Amino acid sequence: MNQMEKITLKGITKAYGKNPPVIEDLNLGIEEGSFTVLLGPSGCGKSTVLRMIAGLEKTTAGDVLIDGVSVRDVEPGDRNIAMVFQNYALYPTMSVRDNIEFGLKNMKVGKDERNARIAEVAEMVGLTEYLSRKPANLSGGQRQRVALARAIVKKPAVFLMDEPLSNLDAKLRTQIRTDLIELHQRLKTTFVYVTHDQVEAMSMGTDIVLMDQGRIQQQAAPADIYAKPANVFTARFIGSPPMNIVPAEAAHGQTPDFVSKVGFRPERARLLRKGEGTAADEIRIDGSMLAREMLGDQIQYKMDTDDGVVFVKEFATDMLDYGSYQIAVRLSDIACFDMQGKLAGFGLKKE
Ligand SMILES: Nc1ncnc2c1ncn2[C@@H]1O[C@H](COP(=O)(O)OP(=O)(O)OP(=O)(O)O)[C@@H](O)[C@H]1O
Ligand SMILES: [Mg+2]
Repeated sequence: MNQMEKITLKGITKAYGKNPPVIEDLNLGIEEGSFTVLLGPSGCGKSTVLRMIAGLEKTTAGDVLIDGVSVRDVEPGDRNIAMVFQNYALYPTMSVRDNIEFGLKNMKVGKDERNARIAEVAEMVGLTEYLSRKPANLSGGQRQRVALARAIVKKPAVFLMDEPLSNLDAKLRTQIRTDLIELHQRLKTTFVYVTHDQVEAMSMGTDIVLMDQGRIQQQAAPADIYAKPANVFTARFIGSPPMNIVPAEAAHGQTPDFVSKVGFRPERARLLRKGEGTAADEIRIDGSMLAREMLGDQIQYKMDTDDGVVFVKEFATDMLDYGSYQIAVRLSDIACFDMQGKLAGFGLKKE
């Protein structure tokens, strides 16, 4: 086992009742102090993995280790883990203070220590003025902060969070996202965070674990998963919009025969202006504009081509008119995928 692993999943299989397994022989190491994000489409098994780490769900086979030791016989309450859920699960009749204090009383923390910790954590999440309020009289974002405070105050070794921001509006979500990054920086404890939102994963994670149908597709730092997607699934999941994937024929015979699909990031493509030629190391695809979006410093174009819809994102001040264009992409920016959908490399040229 890696010395730095806080949590290790070894050969985990999980089946609910008599159903076929939703996770099979999953191996995963979560580094101490990392902000690890479990990312993937709905139903891929993210919550199941998190709940097995927490001990809320039994494994069918395999083992969960914390600090290198099996927690098979350790109750959820004794794993030194705190979990934050999507629906907050606050006690409605208790004040904010009592909600935060509740877990501490269970842990038999003394009164003075409790007061000190509550004051500290309330300050940290900006709830000091709201301690005597009831959850019903708080905004969604404030309620989510109470749920966070309740977890932080216990000073757990690991934070598990299952889509804690999904009930919040877009603005609040980005705000609390930053708060969580800051919190992680401050606490330096291990965070394991579940989301289906790749933007959230990319922005917060130090480590992304991308899953599909109970299998890990790629585990890497955000910059690496973006720059080097392991396969077509990953390429299509990461980025906004994600990588364009088209049949290898779109590269006009420039790639080796074992390449079945090619891909390029919208931000690596451009639309040729009138009279503009392409460089020798570029490929061109004909397309007609279906939609254009002004994003502030960038403009995004949705293009219809013979090989399907392709997105182009440009830093430009001139918004192009609707019409037909050539899409130009440098060969070195073309990702080549083999028959199995695995990344073979970038800019592969035919011999
Ligand atoms: N209690 C259960 N009984 C039977 N099947 C379940 C149970 N919980 C989850 N499943 C199944 O296990 C699979 C994984 O579910 P899980 O909740 O882990 O997915 P998820 O990635 O968290 O999805 P979402 O993003 O929608 O929350 C799904 O196919 C789901 O239907
Ligand atoms: Mg889930």
